[in-house]
Amino acid sequence: MDKQVKAIGILTSGGDAPGMNAAVRAVTRAALNKGLKVFGIRKGYKGLIERDAVEMNLRSVSDIINRGGTALYTDRCLEFKEEEGIQKGISFCKELGIEGLVVVGGDGSFRGARDLSVRGIPCVGIPGTIDNDITCTEYTIGFDTAMNTVVEMVDRIRDTCESHDRCSVVVVMGAGAGYIALHTGIACGATAIIIPEKEYDIQKDVIDRINEVKKTGKHHYIVMVAEGIAEKKGREEKIYRFAQDLAHEIEEKTGVVTRANVLGHVQRGGAPTLRDRVVASEMGYHAVELLSQGIGNRVVVMKDGKISDLDILEALNMPKVFDDKLYEIANTISL
Ligand code: F6P
Repeated sequence: MDKQVKAIGILTSGGDAPGMNAAVRAVTRAALNKGLKVFGIRKGYKGLIERDAVEMNLRSVSDIINRGGTALYTDRCLEFKEEEGIQKGISFCKELGIEGLVVVGGDGSFRGARDLSVRGIPCVGIPGTIDNDITCTEYTIGFDTAMNTVVEMVDRIRDTCESHDRCSVVVVMGAGAGYIALHTGIACGATAIIIPEKEYDIQKDVIDRINEVKKTGKHHYIVMVAEGIAEKKGREEKIYRFAQDLAHEIEEKTGVVTRANVLGHVQRGGAPTLRDRVVASEMGYHAVELLSQGIGNRVVVMKDGKISDLDILEALNMPKVFDDKLYEIANTISL
């Protein structure tokens, strides 16, 4: 027997990702269509603690499907990791009559959703991060847009790199994950791709490769590096230092003038691609189907290209499977 849910909430949490707005729109409209009240919680879990919410109507989500960022704002809320923060959130949900909550974000955000679910507020997570590093799903909202942005940027870098017979080190986002670097590395014809999932040796995997292909007549090179590699050695400023050190080493050992580029937050902004808008809409709709029946503690996932859902704990504990084949393809055809 379906539970008669009357109101749900929606929030976006963690790093923003293009397509989050499309998910907010889909959740809001699908829920209104079922006669539910919908509350938009601002700034992620922080909004639950600080009691910052707005009741949504059809027009609250007009003209956002095409916009990057998140109209509900976002936050990485440390306070929500503590029992006191969680309890504040629960009492705000109860006050608004929220009987289900949609959380759009990454792994960290799903932990908060689980904490609420086990305390009686059913939550459904929707994977939203440009990194595509959530193990339980083939796809996360924002990945396609971010990759297309990287390809556009690297094509531009390549024009100037080619004109000057240079090498460009390009560092792309991916905290602990090389999905953006691997896919865009293939798409941009990078001579070398360095990602945290694979052991690497700068001499063998970068310098020797450049020297080898140089002999075949190639005279410009892209070296794609996932941010996670540099992060292993520290945070932000280390990423820039890592890129410059690598560029110097390449120049010194290959004789090719080398420049460093850290693409940074340009990858997180911008209008979502068609894929991100459609997947976000499908996932948002699915989340409402679950919550409207009183089903919580689930994460919406893409499996074999289809939208389904998993238990949050099961989802969080799934092992990471790396696409070795894609890595092999990259290394074979980028000479
Ligand atoms: O959104 C994911 C991500 O972009 C990571 O790739 C990156 O390391 C991190 O967020 C950086 O986020 P911020 O600069 O907002 O802390």
